[in-house]
Amino acid sequence: MTDLLVLGSGIAGLSAAIHASRRGMSVVLLTKGEMAHSATHFAQGGVAAVLDSADSTDLHLADTMAAGAGLCDESAVRVLVDDGPDRVRELMELGAQFDYENGRLAMAREGGHSLPRVVHAGGDATGAEIERALRTDVRDLRAVEVREGWFTIDLLIENGRCVGVTALDGSGGMHKVRAKHTLLATGGAGQLYSATTNPSVSTGDGVAMAFRAGAAVADVEFMQFHPTALASPSMPRPLLSEALRGEGAVLRDSAGVAFMSQEHPLGDLAPRDVVARAITTRMLEREESNMWLDCTSINDFETRFPTIWRSAQSVGLDPERDLLPVAPAAHYLSGGVCTDLDGAATIPGLWACGEVACSGVHGANRLASNSLLDGLVFAPRVVEAIGDGRDGPERTGVLRDGWPEGSLSMSQHSNVAATVSPLPLREALQDLMTSNVGVLRDGVRLEEAALALDVIHAKAENCDSQAVPTWELRNLLMVATALVRAALLREETRGTHSRLDYPCARPEFLGRYMFAGSNEMFLPLPVEVRA
Ligand code: SIN
Repeated sequence: MTDLLVLGSGIAGLSAAIHASRRGMSVVLLTKGEMAHSATHFAQGGVAAVLDSADSTDLHLADTMAAGAGLCDESAVRVLVDDGPDRVRELMELGAQFDYENGRLAMAREGGHSLPRVVHAGGDATGAEIERALRTDVRDLRAVEVREGWFTIDLLIENGRCVGVTALDGSGGMHKVRAKHTLLATGGAGQLYSATTNPSVSTGDGVAMAFRAGAAVADVEFMQFHPTALASPSMPRPLLSEALRGEGAVLRDSAGVAFMSQEHPLGDLAPRDVVARAITTRMLEREESNMWLDCTSINDFETRFPTIWRSAQSVGLDPERDLLPVAPAAHYLSGGVCTDLDGAATIPGLWACGEVACSGVHGANRLASNSLLDGLVFAPRVVEAIGDGRDGPERTGVLRDGWPEGSLSMSQHSNVAATVSPLPLREALQDLMTSNVGVLRDGVRLEEAALALDVIHAKAENCDSQAVPTWELRNLLMVATALVRAALLREETRGTHSRLDYPCARPEFLGRYMFAGSNEMFLPLPVEVRA
């Protein structure tokens, strides 16, 4: 039997596969698309890590905790910032080519960081370069068997333990893939929204599978919206990295006013939730569909930001002359499958790392460029823990105070004749989430969304039960239902969760909602957060 089954081929999954094979484990890696089709590929800004003597891990920790709006788990953030630098150096040894300036690693500054600490590659193509380096290594490893085009349907749970998955191969054949340990590294759920920076594969599969299996999940109300996606119809939305503002770009309204200085002491480099809220508020007040990013002060734009240059050119804009239209787009799910400090989920044999996980490092709002770091740091910890003989979670990190036990309620879908196409239902879901559960929320629209999701759910029962688009739709519906439920329960504004009817943070909500079980069994469980 395979030692480690890895689900997903972004930075977290590939890192885990490499570390596991180095520890002598056999690995099977399933990915539903091609290896390169992960959200990692689209990451622009870079990796935040303390690699300069002017910086300190205490400062990185403080910035991460401040961005997380009271909900970060300090012990998890400590792991992230302390392990980070070595993991980035390891990546360089593996062949990832980061950018240098005057013989030193080039460091960019992004929102919420007190100083420049974001290393990047290819200017603004950091994710693509990291993924290239990791993929090349994985392809060379004989101990790693990669199966592309394999869609994982559900976790296999036997006697309360995860023993692998059921999955469809590229030709639609159903398989049981058994493993001693299973790692969710399936990424996020940006496809819940009609405007997202995430690729079409980001459909919340890992969180939904964990729900169905009864694992604890938390913080799903904290969907992060990137403030500056290029306002264009293309999907995924082209990202205009925060690093642009680190290099001097300024947000302006249609009257040319640079409004961020009125919003936060860090101005255009305020944490991402603050910037997304400020942009959305102005768009609503002015009944406009975008604000503007003024990059005209950036020299050598094409060299420093080649990906963004090409995106702008493709819609006929020249960033050195034209203001770029921007609007927030769904970008990153800060919550997910609850894990201890070593990535163990609440079902023995099940592990999670990267965006799918809720280890407590991101709290209510992830700090810019901490996402690649998260995958890099926690994937090897999973492997170390497994290698050391661990099988289940310890009471550390967000699991310190325990977790709700989910009753196993795997969804049973009868084999129905396909009378309804899942694609219009997916679009209806995305439109609903965008209009009712976006950057600015309120109780009335959240209630409406909950009811409308039930209707979409009922219709989805008539989709072809064996088709991948149907499974993706079901997964999106499950995550959407959890997100709306948690957003309704959280009657406050905190991090990326902004309630117009509760515009301030409220001390009684300083905690996280954890859920376990299927979507019929959501149980709020506030957990005290000890900073
Ligand atoms: C960006 O480059 O602005 C995105 C990086 C991130 O999501 O952390």
